[in-house]
Amino acid sequence: MSYEYITVAREDGVGIVTLNRPKILNALNLKLIDELVTELTNLDKDSEIRTILLTGNEKAFAAGADINEMAEASAIEIMKRDQFAVWDRISLISKPIIGAVSGFALGGGCELMMNCDIVIASETAVIGQPEIKLGVMPGAGGTQRLVRAVGLRKAMEMLLTGDPITAKEALQYGLVNRVVPVEVYYQEALKLAKQIAGQPPLAVQVIKKAAHKADDLPLQEGMDYERNGFYLLLASEDRKEGMQAFLEKRKPRFTGK
Ligand code: CAA
Repeated sequence: MSYEYITVAREDGVGIVTLNRPKILNALNLKLIDELVTELTNLDKDSEIRTILLTGNEKAFAAGADINEMAEASAIEIMKRDQFAVWDRISLISKPIIGAVSGFALGGGCELMMNCDIVIASETAVIGQPEIKLGVMPGAGGTQRLVRAVGLRKAMEMLLTGDPITAKEALQYGLVNRVVPVEVYYQEALKLAKQIAGQPPLAVQVIKKAAHKADDLPLQEGMDYERNGFYLLLASEDRKEGMQAFLEKRKPRFTGK
């Protein structure tokens, strides 16, 4: 499938999706998000692919929703577009999404980053929710996910000032997993994506879903969900292979069955 605003590559079980609107810092117009979600859904269904790497370029992961597209539209037009419904489908992707983030991750860019399960950031990353400076607010989960990620106090400061934080600060608040020099952020993220691609795929997906349930469910319900996932995986071929390989002191060969 050919796209205008993203590129797609594959490497060792990793589907690599690169946002590709460099002239305007990967600003997220409707078509880009549509292409992105279409491709994430395709990769999610593709049995050859086990993890997804989502990235931009050194200068920008994404500088937010495309302001040109919003500037003239009325509230009713924007409501009718229901543009965030397509964003909501990102959280339904069952395979892990690893973010390789450098440069600007602002507004919708920060929201997209927060949709990644693991984030490797370059030292140059600049992360924030500047919508307030435009007289609006985040619309793709920024207030909700940021509070969950960094806590109410820090989120409130970021949301109400609109000022971005550095990669180092993002690491301190648990908003990203690792900060590395810009020269290696992409390779580090790819290496991690490949490592996870080598894990038993069913376990990876069940664990991802269970971990996300921790945000939504009371503890005991989350524990029940986890236990059912545990029992389900006991029925998998990969569980037999994993345990057998351990006993035979060899490397397991996981098939996703
Ligand atoms: N939408 C449209 N165009 C954008 C853009 C955006 N979000 N961000 C940057 N651009 C464009 C600029 O207009 C400029 O285009 P021209 O070359 O045609 O003038 C080009 O990208 C380069 O940008 P700058 O010249 O501004 O680069 P800079 O290095 O001086 O500044 C920046 C970079 C600080 C990121 C600045 O561009 C900026 O503040 N961008 C807007 C960030 C923002 O407010 N994002 C939130 C959008 S609203 C949102 O995301 C809502 C939501 O919840 C989904």
